[in-house]
Amino acid sequence: MHWIGAAMEQVRAQFPALHQSVRGRPAVFLDGPAGSQVPQSVIDAVAGYLRDCNANHGGAFDTSRRSDALLARAHEAVADFLGADDPAGVVFGANMTSLTLAFSRALSRTWRPGDEVVISQLEHDGNVTPWQLAAREAGAVVRIVRLQPDDCTMDLDDLAAKLGPRTKLVAVGAASNFSGTVNPVAQIVRMAHDVGAQVFVDAVHFAPHRLMEVSAWGCDYLVCSAYKFFGPHVGVLWGRPERLAALSPHKLRVVPDTLPGRWMTGTQNHEGIAGVLAAVDYLAALSPQAGATRRQSLIGAMAAIGAHEAALTRQCLKGLGQIPGLRVFGITDESRMEERVATFSFRSSRLSPADLAQSLAAEGIHVWHGNFYALPVSEALGLEPEGAVRAGFLHYNTAAEVDRLLDALSRLA
Ligand SMILES: Cc1ncc(COP(=O)(O)O)c(C=O)c1O
Repeated sequence: MHWIGAAMEQVRAQFPALHQSVRGRPAVFLDGPAGSQVPQSVIDAVAGYLRDCNANHGGAFDTSRRSDALLARAHEAVADFLGADDPAGVVFGANMTSLTLAFSRALSRTWRPGDEVVISQLEHDGNVTPWQLAAREAGAVVRIVRLQPDDCTMDLDDLAAKLGPRTKLVAVGAASNFSGTVNPVAQIVRMAHDVGAQVFVDAVHFAPHRLMEVSAWGCDYLVCSAYKFFGPHVGVLWGRPERLAALSPHKLRVVPDTLPGRWMTGTQNHEGIAGVLAAVDYLAALSPQAGATRRQSLIGAMAAIGAHEAALTRQCLKGLGQIPGLRVFGITDESRMEERVATFSFRSSRLSPADLAQSLAAEGIHVWHGNFYALPVSEALGLEPEGAVRAGFLHYNTAAEVDRLLDALSRLA
């Protein structure tokens, strides 16, 4: 058994929410793709901020100084989490959607009529509509790359065909929140850079599952949301500092023009950002061997998380494949575990997604139903308006919870 299996009780003991029960049975949290639970250290950090250093930014007095120092540490922690060199490239905000809407407006002011933006059918709407709105304002054209319905992967030939000398931006998800598909981000970045386009990565779904490596990927911008990686409801935008400095965000005149503050509108969610710092430290501490740096510990931790989740994925796919009348979307081939995370969307031939989710909820199994805002995926698969049922596993989920889901599905679906 790999380390996280052996240490599972210690991991789960840190998450108070995981100990809830529904009608006398332990609750099974498979709603992670919509938001993960948080460890006690994150809860303590949020409360601790409000208790010990609750203050606005930039004051000369003690609590404001300590608050600013803590926020600076949060920028450093997220830079480590993303594999970025410079914490000045880390911007906090309300959530991915708000950050992307603001960022897309700023970026689109560099586009000219006839310029092109490439997105894909595999995206969450948060990585679609902001670009469509921004393109409309700039007179730019949006080109949409096909997904391959058989395994819910991006058609890279179609991507190659859609790239050209007018492409200014490729906006791509690192992993799909519908099918769990992991996109070959580094390859997509190379293809985009070859035609002179920049790359914006939506890593919201990817972040709790795999190591983020903005430097190695070579992308230009990335967004993620801490509430998906065991932190509070705070969004993160990262950009190459020279690029963030070159753009002109809408901002107040009173705010200094320096990074990262020029992108962070208004007073931030300080207690939430304190929780983000604690979430990154929580993840680093999961490493089987403490690294010399937090980044090294995160590398070890994410590898361990990946191994545990791959085992859950195999178990789940095997079981789902044996349930008659259940259709699973995305990669089901066990030899392709690298290309997917432990997020499974499926439809039953007997019950609607809403009814199946309701029946599972009655057994204490928390799953999501609908299109999860991944509207283009649901449309491309012909699943609208009902969508599918989604069960998502995180590192705190167990093999016994996979069995609970499979057992319930084989009775209900
Ligand atoms: C892949 C993906 N992108 C974007 C979003 C939007 O994130 P936020 O809720 O932080 O705006 C989500 C939320 O579920 C998501 O899963």
